[in-house]
Amino acid sequence: MKFLFLQCFILTILFFASTTLSSGSKNRTLSSPPSAIHFTDRAEVHIRSDLPNNTNPLYFRCQSKDTDFGMRKLNVGEEFYWKFRLQVWGRTLYFCHFYWGNRQSIFNVYDKYSVRYLCAIPGSDDLMCIWKVREEAFYVSHDNKRKDAVRVPLIGHVVVHIYSRVPNQPSTLKIHCQSKDTDFGEHFLKTDDQFYWRFVPHLTGTTLFFCQFNWGSKSKTFDVYNSTIDDICSAGVSSFASYNCFWEARPDGFYLSNDNKIWQKLNTWT
Ligand SMILES: *[C@@H]1O[C@H](CO)[C@@H](O)[C@H](O)[C@H]1NC(C)=O
Ligand SMILES: *[C@@H]1O[C@H](CO)[C@@H](O)[C@H](O)[C@H]1NC(C)=O
Ligand SMILES: *[C@@H]1O[C@H](CO)[C@@H](O)[C@H](O)[C@H]1NC(C)=O
Repeated sequence: MKFLFLQCFILTILFFASTTLSSGSKNRTLSSPPSAIHFTDRAEVHIRSDLPNNTNPLYFRCQSKDTDFGMRKLNVGEEFYWKFRLQVWGRTLYFCHFYWGNRQSIFNVYDKYSVRYLCAIPGSDDLMCIWKVREEAFYVSHDNKRKDAVRVPLIGHVVVHIYSRVPNQPSTLKIHCQSKDTDFGEHFLKTDDQFYWRFVPHLTGTTLFFCQFNWGSKSKTFDVYNSTIDDICSAGVSSFASYNCFWEARPDGFYLSNDNKIWQKLNTWT
């Protein structure tokens, strides 16, 4: 399940993250450094909110093995940044967990292996990672230009799709989907129409959505998303990508797919 991936991912990061000196947070004695440690170039990471005006603030928490900047909040146009120095043999790594409304994402904002190359300043050995958080994605570049910025999509959410694959006779399909906190109300779906919603599952695996389906004299109520369904929807999806649960209501029952191609029948009408 995704939730376990998340925990493993964080533990893995903590395990592999290297010793990193954050400016001001350590007792540095550069006059006589231990011979095994060589400091090289300076690096900066900037996190900037370019989200639309009048939307939820951006919250985020950035960490390395030794540093935790705590939960931070940015309004539109604001930025947070830190500086650090790289060790020649170190594996410096910072990752951040971002929250915006009900969307979230977690990834490395600096690592030696990939992000480093996006932050290289031409003609200099120093590094500048400017992250811009926009509505559709995250962008990183060494300067403020978006032209050569690299895009990281907002990830970590699940989309549940409900399709009507029944005729509109004897009646249009009626669905009513709910969770503990959310009631989407009644919707009528003509043949091939869909109703969908997206959400970020609770890390504990307790998220549950159920729907009542009515078609002519037939009806059925069952969970369209729970931990069992999540296992099916997330199968084969790489960690931290978003994924889909596709449901089709057909005349002979209810089918689930995670790729909109291969279907399995999980329920029948009563
Ligand atoms: C900083 O390091 C020096 C030399 O190792 C030590 O004497 C001093 O107590 C340290 N200060 C702190 C705040 O750890
Ligand atoms: C947001 O508001 C600021 C000033 O209030 C304005 O300069 C900026 O263009 C606005 N951004 C968008 C995307 O509308
Ligand atoms: C999840 O829902 C399905 C029906 O769609 C059900 O068969 C299964 O037992 C449920 N799993 C849990 C853990 O409740």
